[in-house]
Formats: sequence, C-alpha cells, structure tokens
Amino acid sequence: MKKQWFMLLLASALLCTATALAQPALVKKNGSTHFEIDGKPFVMFTGELHNSTSTSESYMKEIGVWEQMKKANFNTVIASCSWDVIEREAGKYDFTSVDHVIKNARENGLKVVMIWFASWKNSASTYAPSYIKRNHEKYPLVKNAEGKFLNILSAFGENSKNADKKAYEALMRHIREIDPDHTVIMMQVENEMGILGSIRDFSDLAEKAWKGQVPEDLINYLVAHKGKLFPELEKVWKVNGYKTKGTWEEVFGKSHSNTEDWKEYPYYTEEIFQAYYYAKYVGEITAAGKAAHNIPMYVNNWLKQPGMGAPGGFPSGSPLPEVIDVWRAAAPAVDFTAPDIYMPEYKWVLSQFALSENPIFIPECRTDIAKALYAYGEYDALGFAPFGFDGPQAVGMGAGGASNEDFANLGKCYGLLSGMGTMLTDNYNSDKMRGVLVTDDDQSPTVEMGDYIITFKSTASMRAFDYGQGAEQLAAENAALAARARTTQSGALIIQTGADEFYIVGINAIISFAAKDSKATGRVLYDTIEEGVFKDGKWIAGRNLNGDENRPNITGVGAKRIVVYKSKVNAAASRWE
Ligand code: DGJ
Repeated sequence: MKKQWFMLLLASALLCTATALAQPALVKKNGSTHFEIDGKPFVMFTGELHNSTSTSESYMKEIGVWEQMKKANFNTVIASCSWDVIEREAGKYDFTSVDHVIKNARENGLKVVMIWFASWKNSASTYAPSYIKRNHEKYPLVKNAEGKFLNILSAFGENSKNADKKAYEALMRHIREIDPDHTVIMMQVENEMGILGSIRDFSDLAEKAWKGQVPEDLINYLVAHKGKLFPELEKVWKVNGYKTKGTWEEVFGKSHSNTEDWKEYPYYTEEIFQAYYYAKYVGEITAAGKAAHNIPMYVNNWLKQPGMGAPGGFPSGSPLPEVIDVWRAAAPAVDFTAPDIYMPEYKWVLSQFALSENPIFIPECRTDIAKALYAYGEYDALGFAPFGFDGPQAVGMGAGGASNEDFANLGKCYGLLSGMGTMLTDNYNSDKMRGVLVTDDDQSPTVEMGDYIITFKSTASMRAFDYGQGAEQLAAENAALAARARTTQSGALIIQTGADEFYIVGINAIISFAAKDSKATGRVLYDTIEEGVFKDGKWIAGRNLNGDENRPNITGVGAKRIVVYKSKVNAAASRWE
C-alpha cells in the first residue's frame, strides 16, 4: 500500500514538474532570448487585430478572420481584452469576450498574445470602465502645466491602479483556469502609455512627488548598474555628480528644452520622473497578473519620432529605450519593452530597443515582409506583427491596412519561415544567420558571412539581361522593368549552412556574392541554385535554376538554396558563366 502511495505521489510530482515546464517562458541562452512553449522554441508569425475586432465573436466569424490567418500561415494572433467590456459593473467580471478568442484560436491551431487595454491606450484612458471614467475625484486625471485636466488617468491614482490590478488579476486567474494547454502565450500590459499633451503630470499628487526625493529603488538600481546604463541616463547622472540622494532635478539636473534634433532628450528629467511612476503602476499590475498566471508580459511604445519634439509630443513616461533602466528598476515583473514601428527609421529603432539585451518583438508594424525578415534574421525577433490586417481600415488611422498583395506575400513569407523548423532559433546570436533590409538610406546593404560578402539591392534597380538583343531592345526591356519596379519591400534573411552553402528567404532582392579575398580566390560563381520551400526543417527543392535563370535574385517572395564556388575565370572572356 505504502509503495502505491509513493508511486502516486511520484507520478503527481512528475506531472507538476511537467506542467511547470510547459509554461510559456523567455529563456536566456547563448546571449540571446529564446521564447519557449512546452520547453520547445517558438517564433511568432503573427499580426495584430484592429482594436475592436475581438470584442465580438460573430463579427470575427463574419469577416472570416480565422480562415484569413490560417491561410496566411499565422501561428499566433494578437488580440485585445478591453477592461470596459469585462467590467461593465464595478467588481463584476464577464470574460465572454476573452473566452471566444481562446476557444476559436485553439480550434484553429493558433496561439494568442493578449493585449490588456486598460488604464491607458495610446496615452488616453478611454478603455477604463464607466464607473471610473465618471468619477474623477476617486480616479484622478493628469493635469497639464496650465492646470487643465487631460483625458488620461494619473499614474499617481492609487484607486485607479488598484481597480486595474484587481481586474487584471481576475483576468489572469480566469485564463489560468480555462487555458491549461497555453493557447494564451503572452500578455501585453496596457497599450502605448505615457502622457500626450504635457511634458509631465502637474496634478497635486504629481507635484508632491516631483518636489520629493528620487525613490530608493531607482537609486539602488542606478548604483548597481553604474557604467552600464542607457548612455544619456549615465551622462545626466554623472554630470550631476552621481548623487545617491536628492530631488529629481538634483539627481538628474534641470532639463533643457532643445528640440532641434529629434533624437535628443529634451525635458529628460521630466521623462525619467514620469517613466518611474508609470512603471511603478504597471509593474504592480503585471506582478499581480503573473502571481495569478505566470506567462511572459511586455509593454509597448508609441515611438519618439521626427516632428514630435519633447515628451508630451510623444508619450512622456512611455517605456522607450532612453528610460529602460527606470522601467527595469520600478517594474521588474515586466519582461521587455516593444516598439510599434510606423516610422521610416526602422533600423535605428531596432538598434535602440536591442540595447541592454532587451529582446525584440514588434507587435505593430506595416505589412512589410522585408522588415519582418530583417527583424527575424538580424535581431532574433520573437515575432513580427502587421497591425490591422483584418477587415477594413478605420478612417484616418494611418496604420496602413494590408493590400491584398502585401498580405499574400506575408502569408508566403510566414509559410517559408515556419517550414524552417528550428533553423531560426538554432542560429540565434550567430553570424551564420543575418538579416538585410534595403532602405532609401542604404540601397545596397552587404553582409559578410564566412569567406563571402553578399550584397543586396532592390529589384526596383534591376536591369534587363543582355542576351545580345541589341541596344534598342535592351533599352525597351529596361523601360518595361522600370515601369513595373517596386521601390519598397526589399530584404532577406540568410542562413549559412556550409562553407559555400546558403539559404536565402527574401523579397524583391538582387543578390550578388563576392569573395572576401577576391585577389587570391578569384570571382564567385554559382555551383547550384535551387528554389524551394522548407517542410519540418528540411529543404524541398523546386526548380533547379540555370541558363537564363542562373542568378540568385528573388523577385516577389521566395527561398533559394545557393552553393557558390570561387573561380579564376576571367570576366571579360566569359560572358555566359
Ligand atoms: C497604435 C495603437 O497601439 C494601435 O492600437 C492602433 O490604435 C494603431 N496605433 C492605429 O494606427
């Protein structure tokens, strides 16, 4: 009998361990962050629904969005949960709007990243339940410098925070109960928070904190991370004498308002101050949610960009790279911060967000496959998501709903990448995997891989193949090509699998190989070029490309396997190589 009990206990202990292992988690390995579900690597191929879509099951069915995602090879959907919908009556929670998303995702073999639209959405507080919106005494708003209230809950509002926290905790408890198989794999807490319309909060509570001391937890963090802080934070702390005590202006200095260069940090002390109190508020909510159901949780950003000047022009306090340390100090439960990228400076944004080992996840972007490939290949991105791919685009939102062609390309691209199995994650943080993006500022990016330098150009710059058709005909063919040319979306993800073997998934890319040491080794020629797809991590070759097609270029979206060799063949003498 005793033995049986022991076996039973052992079995349940093993079961518990298995369940614990199954939890979606961010795992640091070999200098990169891996996202794992059930202990297996998972890369998100996803898109974000329009804000109101997931509030109605019938609407989602009506627009056929589940079929749309399956057809486009999504493995994850980013859907939202609205606080005002789940808590129409104070303290009473109705999770119908969450349940149908989880049920339908599960039935369609998709995972869910769920956004908690709560105290803040694009700075404002329109998603707070009615009982909060109508009681500003109890749930205070931000005040600007002129003493006017803005429609933004103040991060100093204890009652607002507690109500948000209670609802979020209830949501996470509910998800834990109904979702043992982890259909919901990640949470976004709030959406693009921060103050628009004022450099900081000037409400009475905020004023008191502004005149008070910099809190100890932030000071302790600064001391522990001295020398490794975001450069501007390090600079202002240093310039002001590395103080470990004092008011915000004593420790970080009096702000300047120079807005000439949008990449500068005007009103930085105000931004640091505001970031700290947003982080405190959201950090507490996140920690409570994790205590109920421990899955990864992140925050996202409306970015600082040209024309937006000082904080207030962009959301002040938002978890931007320049205040990532402040967020880490005050909100340790938040796993990472993510950029919503609609601005052209895509590469710069990623370089900033990748500082301090912050993993890259792009929850909102335009439907641009080249950008997706660049993020996966160059930054080990956990995921990439075009915003608002479903249904018609709301008027005036400017998010760039997907055209049919772009969306079809996205589907092809996700199909190719998901067929690669663990090829992406096996190559995280390795120079065997790279991403390239052709931009207006960088029209022929190159990557060095092994013995080779690979150059990419957009097919928009393609010239007709000279097969001896004569100058006039050649000019006509070039004119036709120019007319068809696309100027946008050109990029690739490259994986090197042998000294001379490369797989390239790309879009609209003219690709050329050169030897690093061309003097010694001669020209690079193509041994074999295949086009194909991947299935379960294996290459399935399609056409073998030779003759007129003996070039590795990718027009449209596609994948190629390219084996090169170095030859001493003289260029002038060899026209048909
Ligand atoms: C950014 C927001 O985060 C999204 O929810 C959505 O409102 C888009 N902007 C619309 O452009």
